[in-house]
Amino acid sequence: MRDWTGNKRSAHAMIGSFVGAQSVREEHDYYATDPNALASLLKQKQLPRVVYECACGAGHLAEVLVKQGHSVVATDLVPRGYGVSGVDFLKVDTLPDDCACILTNPPYKYTMEFIEHSLELLPEGGEAIFLLNINALAGKARYERLYSHGTLKEVYVFPKRVQCAKNGDFASMTGSAVNYAWFVFEKGHSGTTNLHWIT
Ligand SMILES: C[S@@+](CC[C@H](N)C(=O)[O-])C[C@H]1O[C@@H](n2cnc3c(N)ncnc32)[C@H](O)[C@@H]1O
Repeated sequence: MRDWTGNKRSAHAMIGSFVGAQSVREEHDYYATDPNALASLLKQKQLPRVVYECACGAGHLAEVLVKQGHSVVATDLVPRGYGVSGVDFLKVDTLPDDCACILTNPPYKYTMEFIEHSLELLPEGGEAIFLLNINALAGKARYERLYSHGTLKEVYVFPKRVQCAKNGDFASMTGSAVNYAWFVFEKGHSGTTNLHWIT
């Protein structure tokens, strides 16, 4: 267990236990990610020891990292039986000790804010790794805010659709309409963006 201060208040770290109808969006955008989506990425990309899952939900991604030996700090705005709740990531002003990697599937409505805030918090060379709809590559506003500065270092595309279940209810899912990819932003990167396939 690690101690960590977020939102200028005491919080405990988080290696908690794993707790585990799709049309209307859930109020706080809770869509649990199939853990295989991260396990597949980790076969191709090495992450640093300490990772901050800043919108952890019920820990579907955090637990993959814990099982692979990472030290994980996990927080969420809403209590979901995992990690520290009541932490609005957009108000977090300090990263956990020794942390240079933020990884999550963010709330859809705050995607740009989460990426921008991550890059503000991270040290040079630190990575913000987000599972996003591939369509997030397009759009003038997104280009100006997220890509024109050149920090998008890598994109890992899934040829097969990843399942993200509303309220964590994978059993009720009949399929997925969204094509996802892992977007890797590196603070200070200003080169080209490399495309990878997760097969
Ligand atoms: C798409 S879900 C992903 C959950 C988890 N990362 C996963 O992949 O299974 C987004 C999560 O963001 C949380 N969230 C929404 N707004 C937030 C905020 N401002 N700060 C922190 N977490 C937030 C929601 O409660 C929800 O659990």
